[in-house]
Amino acid sequence: MRHSKSNLLFAILCTGQAAQAALYTDFSQLPRTSFDFVIVGGGTAGNVLANRLTENSAVDVLVIEAGVSDEGVLPAIIPFLAPTITPNTPYDWNYTVVPQEGLNSRVFPYNRGKILGGSSTVNYLIHQYGSSDDYDKLASITGDPGWSWTNMKKYIYKHEKFNPGVNGTGRYVPENHGTNGTTSVGLTTYPYKIDDKVLEATKQLSNEFPFNPDTSGGENVLGIGWMQSSIKNGSRSSSSTSYLHDAITRPNLSVLIEHQVIKLLRQDKKLNEPVFNGVLVSRGPNAIAKQLFAEREVILSAGTVGTPQLLLISGIGSKEDVESHGISSAIDIPAVGKNLVDHVGATMSFNAQNLDTLDPLVNDPTAAQTALDTWTKTRSGPYASTLANQFGFFRLPSNASVFSVTTDPASGPKAAHWELAINDFGGLVEPSHPLPVNASFIGVIVALVAPSSRGYIKLASADPFDKPIIDPRFLTTTFDIFTMREAFRAVKRLMKAPAFSGYILGPYGSSNAETDEDIDEFFRSYSATVWHAVGTAAMSTGNSKDGVVDASLKIKGAKGLRVVDASIWPFVPCAHTQGPTYLIAERAADIIKKEHKI
Ligand SMILES: Cc1cc2nc3c(=O)[nH]c(=O)nc-3n(C[C@H](O)[C@H](O)[C@H](O)COP(=O)(O)OP(=O)(O)OC[C@H]3O[C@@H](n4cnc5c(N)ncnc54)[C@H](O)[C@@H]3O)c2cc1C
Ligand SMILES: *[C@@H]1O[C@H](CO)[C@@H](O)[C@H](O)[C@H]1NC(C)=O
Ligand SMILES: *[C@@H]1O[C@H](CO)[C@@H](O)[C@H](O)[C@H]1NC(C)=O
Ligand SMILES: *[C@@H]1O[C@H](CO)[C@@H](O)[C@H](O)[C@H]1NC(C)=O
Ligand SMILES: *[C@@H]1O[C@H](CO)[C@@H](O)[C@H](O)[C@H]1NC(C)=O
Ligand SMILES: *[C@@H]1O[C@H](CO)[C@@H](O)[C@H](O)[C@H]1NC(C)=O
Ligand SMILES: *[C@@H]1O[C@H](CO)[C@@H](O)[C@H](O)[C@H]1NC(C)=O
Ligand SMILES: *[C@@H]1O[C@H](CO)[C@@H](O)[C@H](O)[C@H]1NC(C)=O
Repeated sequence: MRHSKSNLLFAILCTGQAAQAALYTDFSQLPRTSFDFVIVGGGTAGNVLANRLTENSAVDVLVIEAGVSDEGVLPAIIPFLAPTITPNTPYDWNYTVVPQEGLNSRVFPYNRGKILGGSSTVNYLIHQYGSSDDYDKLASITGDPGWSWTNMKKYIYKHEKFNPGVNGTGRYVPENHGTNGTTSVGLTTYPYKIDDKVLEATKQLSNEFPFNPDTSGGENVLGIGWMQSSIKNGSRSSSSTSYLHDAITRPNLSVLIEHQVIKLLRQDKKLNEPVFNGVLVSRGPNAIAKQLFAEREVILSAGTVGTPQLLLISGIGSKEDVESHGISSAIDIPAVGKNLVDHVGATMSFNAQNLDTLDPLVNDPTAAQTALDTWTKTRSGPYASTLANQFGFFRLPSNASVFSVTTDPASGPKAAHWELAINDFGGLVEPSHPLPVNASFIGVIVALVAPSSRGYIKLASADPFDKPIIDPRFLTTTFDIFTMREAFRAVKRLMKAPAFSGYILGPYGSSNAETDEDIDEFFRSYSATVWHAVGTAAMSTGNSKDGVVDASLKIKGAKGLRVVDASIWPFVPCAHTQGPTYLIAERAADIIKKEHKI
């Protein structure tokens, strides 16, 4: 996004308030050093567990989060400013990818939240669950019908507190939503001039771009619909402001922030099934590390990058790889860190009729200040909504030529291959090119949501404070580049709908590409992550050698160790990943409670 990040962020940071008193920032403040459960990472999934496990006051839980408190951090609170909170801020892990072979060897940031709430505190707030096929495929891979859509759907009602807002009728399907859950979700609240034109286009081009009243999840996610986002009264609803907030006053929940877990502790090195019963934590590279213990389980919720890194540092992973860094092997699980899979996207730019778009908001400090004032006074205006009002999921036609050379990587026939999201301003994801600031644009994000490319995360060294090597290997398969090419052409067909005539003036710059070569070059030059990484601690059946965790999310071959975060998805859901992560965590809490009879 063309936000002048340094200006905005600086002004906003200065208004931040002190950390929440109930959180511990120092090891010495902890009530004890041994807990029933130790959760590594107070992120999206970690805070769900913190809440659900302490519903029983006889259970004692410690959450350890490397980042700071999210309290008063305005760029994390104001929805429209989501693009300013990462990358390369005090709230980001500041990872980058290695030169991407499929993307003209470019490198770019690989944002991950390092703050209470994790990536749910820094993400773009888009909230959805994915296709029923995603869950049914997970059930079929793991052999556990508990992961199927039929069973998982009930967790939506537990997770979500849906508020449609003033104009909700016809923009969502009430039966698909819960109103009594924990995290607030709703429709966007700031109308764009283009919204009605998009609806009109879905009528004019209804064969290819049908309107779908609710694309959020289940049997019917394809088509163009209204965006849903994790917002409560104009402010972000994250796992911290919802799950953790609701549980933080419980006496048996302790949260230690600003401390990184640097190693998993093994109880008895002689056992052939290693038992893990604690963690080593540290404030930073030069601080003295301290031990904390778990009587029942250590649960890794450190995310798709943090979880495999910590496993590898603790000797859990490919024996050869860990030993090459001088780490003694604890469990030889080659799949740790492999199978990294993520959505990749780029923004196509279209010239729009001047002055009708939100471009001034990202180009003109005065317009931005006005929006901030409106938000501050009334929690409304453009800053109170996320960055797109409408979006759509689509499949390649079933006779697409690529299916004669490759199988369909989507989780099933109801799941999407690609997605578009309509911004009311120029480029958002790796802006294709510097856009003139005196003109108006509509940006259409095109993302691949059923990629077949697979990458990996590896240790750079045994030092837990060293960033790992991240290679998502974007656009390295025939299917992936083919699908992007077809998506590009489809978006151009959509934007030519009569509804846009006189408003959309045509593609801008390299979004004019026509030939396969030029379209491929567009994506290889301008694509980047859309931050949906999963797969590095993949679930599989108990006896399969492919995965890292079994169907109940326990590390294979270990005792006392479980993974609950986005890394356990063996493939990426055909949707934005916070909703799927929340559902996984809700079921994980039930599995853990049942196993421990709590
Ligand atoms: C910029 C961005 C935009 C996104 N936009 C969207 C969106 O609009 N919609 C959507 O659905 N999804 C979006 N996502 C993806 C979504 O937010 C993630 O898939 C999801 O939040 C992952 O949850 P998690 O629990 O696996 O990890 P996280 O929420 O990242 O939690 C991991 C936590 O562990 C902590 N941690 C890591 N290592 C350690 C350690 N060693 N010791 C202590 N703590 C540690 C981290 O600091 C973090 O708090 C976005 C992500 C990003 C980064
Ligand atoms: C990320 O970069 C910001 C800005 O330079 C810095 O303040 C922060 O400490 C960095 N964080 C990490 C984990 O490297
Ligand atoms: C809402 O949730 C609470 C707590 O989980 C429960 O007691 C109550 O019955 C629920 N109400 C409805 C209408 O579902
Ligand atoms: C709701 O609809 C009315 C009538 O179309 C419109 O004036 C108003 O701007 C809409 N509000 C929102 C938040 O979409
Ligand atoms: C729960 O908290 C209470 C009050 O702080 C404490 O007395 C009790 O020991 C805790 N329970 C466990 C299991 O630690
Ligand atoms: C929303 O926030 C505004 C501004 O702080 C406040 O005046 C209003 O009461 C809030 N509304 C709800 C429903 O909480
Ligand atoms: C696929 O089918 C459609 C409609 O039946 C047809 O127009 C198109 O040419 C076909 N495409 C290919 C690649 O065969
Ligand atoms: C924007 O500026 C460029 C160069 O400064 C100029 O060529 C162009 O005509 C301007 N466009 C508008 C809409 O004013």
